Amino acid sequence: MPVRYFFKMRTIPRFLSRLTQANVHNFVFHTIVIVFFRPFMRINRLFLPASALFACAILIALGACSTGNSEPYAYQRSAFSTEGMVVSVHPLATDAGVEILRAGGNAVDAAIAVHLALAVVYPRAGNLGGGGFMLYRAADGETAALDFREKAPLAAYRDMYLDSVGNVIDGLSTKGHLAAGVPGSIAGLHAAHERYGTMSWASLCAPSIRYARDGHRLTRFEAERFNTYRDAFLEYNAPDIPFVSQEVWHTGDRFVQAELSHTLSRIAEKGASEFYTGQTAGLIIAEMQRGGGIITRADLEQYRPVWRTPVMAEFRGYKMIGMPPPSSGGIAVAQLLKIATQHPLGAWGHRDMRTVHLMTEAERRVFADRATYLGDADFYHVPVDSLLEDAYLKSRMHDFNLLRATASESAAGSPIQLSLDVFETTHFTVVDKHGNAVAMTVTLNTNYGSCVYVHGGGFFLNNEMDDFSIKPGVPNFYGLIGAEANAIAPGKRMLSSMSPTIVEKDGKCFLTVGTPGGSSIITSVFQTILNVTEFGMTGSQAVAAPRFHHQWLPDEIIHEKGCFTTELEDNLRQMGHTLREVNAIGTVEMIVAWPDGRWEGAADPRESSHARGL
Ligand code: DON
Repeated sequence: MPVRYFFKMRTIPRFLSRLTQANVHNFVFHTIVIVFFRPFMRINRLFLPASALFACAILIALGACSTGNSEPYAYQRSAFSTEGMVVSVHPLATDAGVEILRAGGNAVDAAIAVHLALAVVYPRAGNLGGGGFMLYRAADGETAALDFREKAPLAAYRDMYLDSVGNVIDGLSTKGHLAAGVPGSIAGLHAAHERYGTMSWASLCAPSIRYARDGHRLTRFEAERFNTYRDAFLEYNAPDIPFVSQEVWHTGDRFVQAELSHTLSRIAEKGASEFYTGQTAGLIIAEMQRGGGIITRADLEQYRPVWRTPVMAEFRGYKMIGMPPPSSGGIAVAQLLKIATQHPLGAWGHRDMRTVHLMTEAERRVFADRATYLGDADFYHVPVDSLLEDAYLKSRMHDFNLLRATASESAAGSPIQLSLDVFETTHFTVVDKHGNAVAMTVTLNTNYGSCVYVHGGGFFLNNEMDDFSIKPGVPNFYGLIGAEANAIAPGKRMLSSMSPTIVEKDGKCFLTVGTPGGSSIITSVFQTILNVTEFGMTGSQAVAAPRFHHQWLPDEIIHEKGCFTTELEDNLRQMGHTLREVNAIGTVEMIVAWPDGRWEGAADPRESSHARGL
């Protein structure tokens, strides 16, 4: 092992730098010994230099044996600029966006390049085989919402994940070929480019092709995940996929994805149709046949992204622009903001008991609405306007008691323990020098999606089918319960929580925000907006502040360490709330406008996020 690492080209510069540092320390140490102890020691004058040389030799040997690398990127969590800003979860993806803005591209051009770069450098969520949502606000106030969510294959049916007696077959909707919906990402990027792009499609693909072809260095987070998922990769794929080409991955290892670079090059040259009807489509179909999946050529050929009308809601002098169904995000975040800002949160304080209790109670009711009313509006009537009416929201809170928690019906005995230490989707945001803004959230659903790698294509397929309500009343991966509105049907889009959000103030873009986190996406976006608008935080403070989450069922407040004081926890328990600490909730990326005309890019310190201005 040491010899293999020593002779790998990439090891040498790292090794030399560590060696230099170690030998500087060694030299200083021996000089001190010589200066202070020489007069007291009757030793041969050659002894100390010889011992120093010997120690150097030992350090050389140790350096050669060491395989641990240092983090290859310096993460910038906060950046300011008047000329444009990119924030994403990976420095190389952020750089791709900045490269495009520098070359004269607009926010949509840059967002396309960021998405494609994430498909290479952040494969747990960045994708070609998944889908997402783009929210756009032009500097002149025009808004647009692009839905490139995956769809159920035409051969899908309501009970496809149930056995003959109607029980859910464990894992069938979350792993393997049957878990995948028809991918929407490439069609979505292409639609965004057709409508708003200014640079050539091929030039937007260039950074990602470079990263895939030349390789990129793994962050600590990614190296650890590759090791954790190794068994799953091997379970669903042939052993020659690049993700298992090393038995153990280390921080800083270079990861080359030749097949992916070829796929991206074909897409760059031939456009989105290559993915849906060309060689890549053929590889996806071959993959389906290999693993018993049901996505067909017709599914790929018929996939179309949809431009939808964004959800708009006013709250305390701001206007929120959000994603409509099949995302529940826009409606849910709007409901939460409208309910919460009926109360003097700013005067109560950020972590005042009343603030936390009110936010929790609003979340309880909004998530119950989500489970009942929300689904793909192309298949099921979603009462969007009614859900956002002031009178409705007032009536929804009629039983709110400032002193007591309301019990979530049938919460007792909830079958799952939510673990929200999840960042498995990704959000990025771009503002260009004109003030055009893009907020985009994309996903494979859980880490590396279905774990099915399209052999020859170089990318993973999503496991988005699990976002359907696979059986009424049975919680999905995120503990979310659904009903008829979100039942499986051929060609239908599964309900999402992804909430790319833009907030306007005085007719201008004030902030853009979003995050991964499954169900907690909605509550993280809600809290982060309030952190700025009600509690006066900067973007970076708002993003870094510890978060909490309630989603109706299970009936508990999940919170990050340091979110509440012990006294507040005791008070909340006395009011009837159940609390549980989790490691982390979400990875929020945000851009906020400052009164002096600068954009503040705020990148979440919980992951490898990186903000960069122009
Ligand atoms: O669309 C949704 O709501 C989910 N598929 C999002 C998944 C997610 O955020 C995973 N990670 N943290």
